[in-house]
Amino acid sequence: MSCSYASFSVFSLSIVPKSTSISRSRSNANIHCAVGGTVAKPEVTNAAAEPLLLNAVRGQAIERPPVWLMRQAGRYMKSYQIICEKYPSFRERSENVDLVVEISLQPWKVFRPDGVILFSDILTPLAGMNIPFDIVKGKGPIIFNPLGTAADVDQVREFIPEESVPYVGEALTILRKEVNNEAAVLGFVGAPFTLASYVVEGGSSKNFTKIKRLAFSQPKILHALLLKFTTSMVNYIKYQADKGAQAVQIFDSWATELSPVDFEEFSLPYLKQIVDSVKQTHLNLPLILYASGSGGLLERLPLTGVDVVSLDWTVDMADGRRRLGPDVAVQGNVDPAALFGSKEFITNRIYDTVQKAGKSRHILNLGHGIKVGTPEENVAHFFEVAKGIRY
Ligand code: CP3
Repeated sequence: MSCSYASFSVFSLSIVPKSTSISRSRSNANIHCAVGGTVAKPEVTNAAAEPLLLNAVRGQAIERPPVWLMRQAGRYMKSYQIICEKYPSFRERSENVDLVVEISLQPWKVFRPDGVILFSDILTPLAGMNIPFDIVKGKGPIIFNPLGTAADVDQVREFIPEESVPYVGEALTILRKEVNNEAAVLGFVGAPFTLASYVVEGGSSKNFTKIKRLAFSQPKILHALLLKFTTSMVNYIKYQADKGAQAVQIFDSWATELSPVDFEEFSLPYLKQIVDSVKQTHLNLPLILYASGSGGLLERLPLTGVDVVSLDWTVDMADGRRRLGPDVAVQGNVDPAALFGSKEFITNRIYDTVQKAGKSRHILNLGHGIKVGTPEENVAHFFEVAKGIRY
């Protein structure tokens, strides 16, 4: 099928006068696909039974792309800042069922995204793996005893979610009831290499020299650690799905620090093992993979077997689609900083992304997490425009 209209090659957006209202009423933005001169009218799936996001991933006919934002629960929201004043510890906020549910639902109540992600962190499992850590305001993650030797890795325990993080399961089950299939409840985990980078570096890193020194001088030690994270994250993904997560995103944020040949040794096989193991028991659970700055690795990401690749904003969506091939759905990829722009700019970027992604198997999102200081009314505008789109 070839869709063309005006100057766009896939389908064209009819850009409508921008709405400055932040109400959640449907905006009049429209996308039309012209096929042989007539506007295609896709068969619309009943999204009440299954969340739109799941229908999109499965390639079913949908009326618009589902939309949610990475890090949609967090510091840009005044309501979250109020909770932070009362509960200053990130670990408390993310390990108490009531707080986890309340914070996860904050963006849901205001913006009605099509995905409601659990409020947690990729590092949350570490305590249960015998790796003490904290997340400190202004500093970020801190690993108290960074790992570097075979003996250190021996001390790492396999993660048993039901024992170590029962609050995650409880929160997911409550979220599933609250959201009631009007959106998909999303779980997430960190990928082995990204988790290893935190525990070897001792926290966030700029140049990743410690983990690369380990990788390039004592690879066996790093492989042993990566394997422990792999089996642990398989347990964790299955646990999250069993407790209510309808799709799970794997964050390999720092895999892109590796050259492609090293990605093939230190990340790809473990991601593939996670996907294979999860699919053995949870065949229909969509898995989404995000890696930040992934342009150099793009063709390799679908080799993991994931259902969706989440693109960062440094890749043009049309190029990304072409390079990923037809068998994988795509998520993304508006620059998070676009949300600091004018409403017109935000609208145009949404349209550009949606038009380039094509009218199936696309989840609209940012290219990385939403930034601190993002105006909430711009986030409201983002959702209003996105939810008003019609293919
Ligand atoms: O998307 C969501 O709304 C769910 C919540 C979520 C958090 N962390 C909450 C959080 C998710 C999906 C994450 C994932 C995460 N955590 C990643 C992968 C995504 C990415 O950004 O690449 C990574 C690398 C981490 C590790 C981590 N945790 C970092 C680098 C930081 C930032 C430190 C800082 O102060 O900016 C955190 C802390 C963290 N996790 C915050 C939030 C909302 C900010 C601290 C706070 O709210 O007090």
